Amino acid sequence: MQKPVLTISELHANVEDKEILKGVNLEIKGGEVHAIMGPNGTGKSTLSSTIMGHPKYHVTSGTVTLNEANVLEMSVDERARAGLFLAMQYPAEVPGVTNSDFLRTAMQTRMEDGKDVPLFKFIRELDKNVEKLEMREDLPHRYLNEGFSGGEKKRNEILQMLMLKPNIAILDEIDSGLDVDALRIVGEAVNSMRSENFGCLLITHYQRLLDHIKPDFVHIMMKGRIVKSGGAELIEKIDREGYDWIKKELGIDDERVIVEEQKRKVTSIGTCATKEMLDL
Ligand SMILES: Nc1ncnc2c1ncn2[C@@H]1O[C@H](COP(=O)(O)OP(=O)(O)OP(=O)(O)O)[C@@H](O)[C@H]1O
Ligand SMILES: [Mg+2]
Repeated sequence: MQKPVLTISELHANVEDKEILKGVNLEIKGGEVHAIMGPNGTGKSTLSSTIMGHPKYHVTSGTVTLNEANVLEMSVDERARAGLFLAMQYPAEVPGVTNSDFLRTAMQTRMEDGKDVPLFKFIRELDKNVEKLEMREDLPHRYLNEGFSGGEKKRNEILQMLMLKPNIAILDEIDSGLDVDALRIVGEAVNSMRSENFGCLLITHYQRLLDHIKPDFVHIMMKGRIVKSGGAELIEKIDREGYDWIKKELGIDDERVIVEEQKRKVTSIGTCATKEMLDL
């Protein structure tokens, strides 16, 4: 099997006519774990949704390729079939579709035409992974994410990853809402996938996930672009000192993509009330 290589070049993308991605360059190869960190609202989730083909995000220029294939020409399910996987920051609830039906259908779409996912093998693998992730046993049989706790939703995203065995996985804030034990379990699950056939992009705010999953490369996103790349030393420095030093180094005033006009509405209500009270 060919080692997967996802290449993102000069990617620009809009949401509702506002440019959010402003020239992203990134290459993820099988065997590598990349981490993207960065302050809120700098375009990290937009990048993951754009790679997966979310219809709200329109690519205006640049390319995304998986080996030789043009990802931007593929539909969302073609991207999944090609081996791309996204664990979303906010997984959607899908009432009416059970978790296990969803998984089986998703696995089916990755099979060659005319071949079925063998039921016995599917159940055995599902049981094994549910146990590995220390998930409640009823979760596969409930409706997808409906009423799942925050941590259960995140574990469920990892369950999907383990079952679908993607070639390139993007995990968007998989650590948010996880307790310390779940963090370790999710870390172990991701590490168990590591091989030449698996590349991973972790989007996170915290060092604690990266203590479990050691990234080979760390990138910092600001203003819709990757503004700095390095190794694990970047994580420690950010954990200790925040992002100000990077902003200073690069001359960035405001790191967000969309900077709203801060209209300070000074209403006199508060002041008047105080004044009245004083007058009394
Ligand atoms: N579907 C959308 N509709 C409107 N605005 C959007 C949409 N998606 C993203 N944006 C805007 O684009 C900017 C970047 O958002 P994005 O979710 O990519 O940030 P992020 O880096 O993932 O932040 P966080 O760390 O808070 O998750 C934000 O200002 C956001 O409001
Ligand atoms: Mg985000």
